[in-house]
Amino acid sequence: MLILAIESSCDETAAAVTNGRHILSNIVATQIAEHRIYGGVVPEIASRRHTEAISGVCNEAVEQAGIKYTDLDAVAVTFAPGLIGALLVGTNFAKGLAFSLGIPLIPVHHLRSHIAANYIENDQLDPPFLCLTVSGGNSIITKVSDYTKFEPIGKTMDDAAGECFDKTARALGLPYPGGLMLDKIATYPDFEKYPLPFPKLSGSELDFSFSGLKTAVINLIHNSNQKGIEIDTPVLAATIRKRVCDMLADNTFKAVEKFGYKTVALAGGVSANSELRSRFDEECKKRNIRLFYPELKYCGDNAAMVGVQAYYEYKSGNIADTSLNALATLPIDYR
Ligand code: KG4
Repeated sequence: MLILAIESSCDETAAAVTNGRHILSNIVATQIAEHRIYGGVVPEIASRRHTEAISGVCNEAVEQAGIKYTDLDAVAVTFAPGLIGALLVGTNFAKGLAFSLGIPLIPVHHLRSHIAANYIENDQLDPPFLCLTVSGGNSIITKVSDYTKFEPIGKTMDDAAGECFDKTARALGLPYPGGLMLDKIATYPDFEKYPLPFPKLSGSELDFSFSGLKTAVINLIHNSNQKGIEIDTPVLAATIRKRVCDMLADNTFKAVEKFGYKTVALAGGVSANSELRSRFDEECKKRNIRLFYPELKYCGDNAAMVGVQAYYEYKSGNIADTSLNALATLPIDYR
């Protein structure tokens, strides 16, 4: 089934042609360089750039796949959650395209597609499994009981892990996207030097909180600057990274034990983090359970993962009509 998938939920305009789990083309036009000047994504600019890029990106995806628009069986699109102006560009483009070609339109939830990125190179991965999805806007532990059946069991009560990385990196003077830069320069954590808090929540034992850590780091940097004390950036970066990974690993493996999972997956932009991957490798080996994570190029936003999830959404009967609207927020287990 040939699907043209479209993704525009944040700052990447992406299109891909997929056939089941197989990727025929994968085009990503990133806006990172433009948003870098502002230290983060500016929603208004993101929407305008999507509008300019979207038809060219789709044409390139179709061309690189070696097909014509008329060969397509369906159009899929990320319709929620994300930046509303950005989502509207992709959603309306996809609606018009599907309508003009007379083929089905498949709505795809952004976090479901991040999870589906794991299916691309991992033929052996099938539900059920437990997935930790960590990105710039989300940190969520989900039971994946089937390709379109999800149950969130832990989530952040405030900031996402990626937000914590991005804002602390910005305070350290690192360019956007901070999570990636912070991961690159981190050396080893020295807890004597920078004793950062380990926030605990009184609610669910599987929920996260990253805002306390973010504020503690920003305050530490401001105080040091005011006193003229130089920050050891690689050591502080490593300390932040370790704290975030500790929290993510603690809750995920608590859930693994509580529900007896034998397979774990990582997803989202932060799943590219080198320490997170090695920590999960270690923890899974210890427990003799299988671990999957997407190839680096499928960790951040892309349309290949949208096409793969769309295939399963279509099989389960999830098809939209031209009344489809974009939504800034939507739980992963929506029906
Ligand atoms: O999934 P994604 O591309 O977009 C969202 O849907 O949010 O994730 C972007 C996030 C940013 O916060 C970025 O700093 C983070 O992923 N990120 C990383 C790494 N690479 C990207 N965070 C930690 N370590 C990395 N290597």
